[in-house]
Amino acid sequence: MPREPSQTVLDVVTYIQRKLDPTLAYRFACRVGMCGSCAMTVNGVPRWTCRTHVDKVVEKDQITVGPLRNLPVIRDLVVDMREFFDKWARAKGEFRGRQTKADDFAKVEPQSAPRVLVDKGIECIGCGVCYAACDVVKWNPDYLGPAALNRAWTLVNDVRDEKNLERLRAVAGDAGCHACHSHVSCTERCPKHLSPTAAIAGLKREVTKAALRGDL
Ligand code: SF4
Ligand code: SF4
Ligand code: FES
Repeated sequence: MPREPSQTVLDVVTYIQRKLDPTLAYRFACRVGMCGSCAMTVNGVPRWTCRTHVDKVVEKDQITVGPLRNLPVIRDLVVDMREFFDKWARAKGEFRGRQTKADDFAKVEPQSAPRVLVDKGIECIGCGVCYAACDVVKWNPDYLGPAALNRAWTLVNDVRDEKNLERLRAVAGDAGCHACHSHVSCTERCPKHLSPTAAIAGLKREVTKAALRGDL
């Protein structure tokens, strides 16, 4: 590979596909850290490849690139993300508001405590890096995983949402938040600097409180 200034791992993979092996399958879209589609394993570590500079990861003039862990490989560097996003649905990761289009806009104070918690988790780009970094997903493929639980936590704190009890029930089972061992690998690896570990700890608290109230 010819080295270039500011070269990213995605640039390397693209060069290989365009110049050396046109059969190589990989995924990308935005190239600027927005779409979440370019995540791969680089030297054994899950990363977003469009924002990972070769200089940062190269070891003895070599890098090793593979598909994300914990997801079925479709071909080469492309994994099947269906189970990852199916788990967002299982965790009730969709917003359900109380108001109709006839109502005025909801007024949520940006500095209010729940909104601050929403803001801490809302920038997830669905890249799957945390999911690939999580050993509990590897041991228990049914586990909802850090991204789906982080999404559930943002909605639990959304004062406009009315699905909370249903959502807490969905994340309370053996494959839910209590399966997390707080290894923090997800938080260490998240390219958006989110903390699914903190989100899951919040879910554990809310699930426990709901159970003590007899709501679950
Ligand atoms: S903190 Fe929980 S979700 Fe995150 S990597 Fe560890 S076990 Fe997985
Ligand atoms: S929480 Fe972070 S690592 Fe996980 S899918 Fe979202 S952006 Fe990617
Ligand atoms: S190509 Fe979109 S995040 Fe990397």
